[in-house]
Amino acid sequence: MKPAVVLVGPPGAGKSTVAAIVASRLGLAVRDTDDDIEAEQGISVQDIFVEAGEPRFRELEHRAVARALSEHDGVVSLGGGAPLHPQTRQLLRDHRVVFLDVGLAQAAARVGLNSGRPLLLGNVRGQLKRLMDERRPVYTEVASVRIDTDGRTPEEVAEAVVDVV
Ligand code: S3P
Repeated sequence: MKPAVVLVGPPGAGKSTVAAIVASRLGLAVRDTDDDIEAEQGISVQDIFVEAGEPRFRELEHRAVARALSEHDGVVSLGGGAPLHPQTRQLLRDHRVVFLDVGLAQAAARVGLNSGRPLLLGNVRGQLKRLMDERRPVYTEVASVRIDTDGRTPEEVAEAVVDVV
């Protein structure tokens, strides 16, 4: 079993929203690795960062991604940092991965509406810029397709994703 498409991108790229629209257009289900980790651990992602630390979260995340990629045939939405794990990058080579690219202003506006992400406390815009700059090469490496989301509605972005599935 293999997902139809895997979405990657930084926090605020709209992965979850776009995943839901793509899934409904294609008549498929969505799997979100952050949700899987929270269901498995019985605590929030934020609390895992606080109580166990980021390295532990990344291990749990790698396992959740591996399971999602092997069990799910719909749309998979990955946490923004998932492709940082080298073994996750390896697994993604065999999949159709789409990078939802987003500019800083748009991402900061989205994240600002839903803060509380453990890596984005304090100066959200500054943290987000650093994180996006560092990760761009990683997203580019794992994705076969990049979609520019700036100036497009989630529906338009989802349409562009459906076109490449
Ligand atoms: C993270 C992004 C979050 C979540 C965790 C870490 C990151 O997911 O996995 O807070 O390192 O970028 P979203 O990309 O859905 O915000």
